[in-house]
Amino acid sequence: METKRIYLDYTATTPLDPQVLDAMLPYFDNTFGNASSVHSYGREAKAALEESREKIARAMGARSSEVVFTSGGTESDNYALFGVAVANSDKKRNHLVISSTEHHAVLHAADALAKSGFELTIVSVDSEGFIRPDELKGAVRDDTLLVSIIHANNEIGTIQNIREIADIVHEKGALFHTDAVQSFAKVEFNVVESDVDLASITAHKIYGPKGIGALYVRRGIELEPMFHGGSQERNRRPGTESVPLIVGFAKAAEIAVGEMQSETARLMRLNALMRKRISENVSGAIPNSPDHDALPNILNVSIDSREMEIDGEALIINMDLEGIAVTSGSACSSGSLQPSHVIKALGRDDATTKATVRFSFGRFTTEAEIVKAADVLAGIVARAGKRR
Ligand SMILES: Cc1ncc(COP(=O)(O)O)c(C=O)c1O
Repeated sequence: METKRIYLDYTATTPLDPQVLDAMLPYFDNTFGNASSVHSYGREAKAALEESREKIARAMGARSSEVVFTSGGTESDNYALFGVAVANSDKKRNHLVISSTEHHAVLHAADALAKSGFELTIVSVDSEGFIRPDELKGAVRDDTLLVSIIHANNEIGTIQNIREIADIVHEKGALFHTDAVQSFAKVEFNVVESDVDLASITAHKIYGPKGIGALYVRRGIELEPMFHGGSQERNRRPGTESVPLIVGFAKAAEIAVGEMQSETARLMRLNALMRKRISENVSGAIPNSPDHDALPNILNVSIDSREMEIDGEALIINMDLEGIAVTSGSACSSGSLQPSHVIKALGRDDATTKATVRFSFGRFTTEAEIVKAADVLAGIVARAGKRR
């Protein structure tokens, strides 16, 4: 008999909401025009494009003219960092600040800028993944151009106080970018209240299609485009806009914002249930996700190597064999498993970092699935682990 699979990797991606698919279908079919064309086909596409831009803007408190559509979170992050850096490369600000728990799209973009002559400071986080305001204050200088700090962390769920961070950054006259890919339309995120200058978002984390995202660019901010071509997206991002994906993104955002309150409450209950079950039944389990100021849908857990010896790879393979789809604390890089930089940043040793499981749940997750996944983890650790 085939094992019933349980998907607990909503942070990696979410299934497309059927209502989103329905909203997109006409734009693959009858309404196929190029939004830049002046004839009626083009005008229809353009109307859908601008209506969608308005919805996305509304979902984060922005003006629609401040929303630039991109191919996703990775492009938005790269555009924020390179766009600001290149536009300012002849000025006296030459210093960038990021945190040690950024997504690779920010981390590697910042590394690339450091190689091309920018000075880079990476601030650390505390044992729950929070930025220390005093450390950040010390890191931001008079010559700092841009600070990029992730809003909600994709591995552990920690939500930074981005308003406080923005105030620290702006006091020195620098710009503030936040990667809001995991927070947008899931928890409160308002660009005006949080006073951010740039923010990255993407559709496929909120039951929208893959391959579409946006960068919020506060009015008046200079950005050098990464690509060169036509004048789409107010000369910021050339290329024919994918109207079906953009319509899907807007629909997904609208649904997610509408459900945010009830969904958050439900996910918090599931999270608390899983946390309790794991702490009671899984030997050596230590949570990496804070129990406050965190995304409701992530529970990241390590098996403490000081208590239990267990191979991280075996842990994930066994979870998969038992039908539970989760992410591990390692990323596959050039064929070998590298311990997650986020879990290491919390101060965990390599063995503990590798023995990490990220459960992330969402709209279609049930209580029974949460209980089953926690019990499967308990069984695997009991079988494959060796008590120290
Ligand atoms: C925090 C964060 N930033 C950026 C990205 C990249 O987004 P995309 O997959 O849309 O390129 C992801 C996706 O994993 C993410 O979780």
